[in-house]
Amino acid sequence: MINIAVLGYGTIGSGVVEVLKTNGDSIRKRAGDTINIKYVLDIRDFPGDPIMDILVHDVNIILNDPEVKIVVEVMGGIEPAYTYVKEALLKGKSVITSNKELVAKHGAELLDIAKERALNFLFEASVGGGIPIIRPLNQSLTADEIVEITGILNGTTNYILTKMSEEGIGFAKALKNAQDLGYAERDPSADVEGYDSCRKIAILSSLAYGMQVDFEDIYTEGIADITDIDISYAKALNARIKLFATSVKENDDNVFAMVAPIMIRANHPLYSVNDVFNGIYVRGNVIGDVMFYGSGAGKLPTASAVVADVVDAAKHLSKNIWTIWSSKKLELVSIDKVKNRFFVRVAKDKNSNEDIKAIFGEIEEVPEVVKNELAFITPLITEGEMQEKKERINGLLGSIRIRF
Ligand code: HSE
Repeated sequence: MINIAVLGYGTIGSGVVEVLKTNGDSIRKRAGDTINIKYVLDIRDFPGDPIMDILVHDVNIILNDPEVKIVVEVMGGIEPAYTYVKEALLKGKSVITSNKELVAKHGAELLDIAKERALNFLFEASVGGGIPIIRPLNQSLTADEIVEITGILNGTTNYILTKMSEEGIGFAKALKNAQDLGYAERDPSADVEGYDSCRKIAILSSLAYGMQVDFEDIYTEGIADITDIDISYAKALNARIKLFATSVKENDDNVFAMVAPIMIRANHPLYSVNDVFNGIYVRGNVIGDVMFYGSGAGKLPTASAVVADVVDAAKHLSKNIWTIWSSKKLELVSIDKVKNRFFVRVAKDKNSNEDIKAIFGEIEEVPEVVKNELAFITPLITEGEMQEKKERINGLLGSIRIRF
């Protein structure tokens, strides 16, 4: 029997307990031993819940129990999660986490501690919910140089954008639904402002390129400014708006990463990734494109990824699964140098076609959707050029990057 402890009995923690109960038999066969939850840690009580028998409020009971071989951290946030996880590793326990904030900030250090002690620090559930993406990057795509990762990495915002677009539901109601379904972060601005996607692309980029990509360096825009009008234009253009997280490596000195809403058409591989689903495509220099798709958030899909890591850790007690993520910082190229095309809306009474052409050169006009607005698509220009051109526009109403 392998004893584990679960830190946090929220959405994911209760999902972990449920998955281990529902699929206990098949999990035992795959792990080669019974996985027994010896403790659940939470500051709250759960009267009437069977976990009350194993609930503890003091983490030291877990950290000081040599019978606990694997600690599952599903509390979220940096502290106290970081302190508990580090201490657990230092005391000889492998750690599984779904905590993207923790992994993005301290992943390299925690992997090193695990490596030095022949333990494991696994975090499949930190990106893409139930989708296997960390393990494929570490263990399957090892023959390739990864040159691009582009993904819809946040289930909440994808759910909101889908509901706004397909069902005409307003932003606030769609967000409330996402919260009720257990998709959103405790503070949903992390989803809406793009910070959650930012941390996830930082993790994937660090693994893909083997160096520390600091999430603070990644240019990040969320979906808060996307309006019904933008969605109407997208429909008129046979397009959808998705929150993309992208990182591209042109060569060792030229890596960029960004998070921003992007308009895409049906020929884009991520066009049909709707609702809470996430989709990630990875481009390798020999394999070409590979795609990963599945539920990006939610109790059971995320718990599935956590428990799969528990099984892996159980199969590798006292043997580190090698992961390359050096703490050496990878300097990203300035966003100003990145090229994009933009869909732009301006006030018609303040701009003529000639004014716009004088600023952008050849533009592609977009049929009128809203009276008194002029909408167009720019040529491929750098973000720096776009910034400078925006300042020259009178009555700018909005702009969104496009990939078509
Ligand atoms: N709030 C996150 C999302 C949860 O919506 O994707 C999964 O990381």
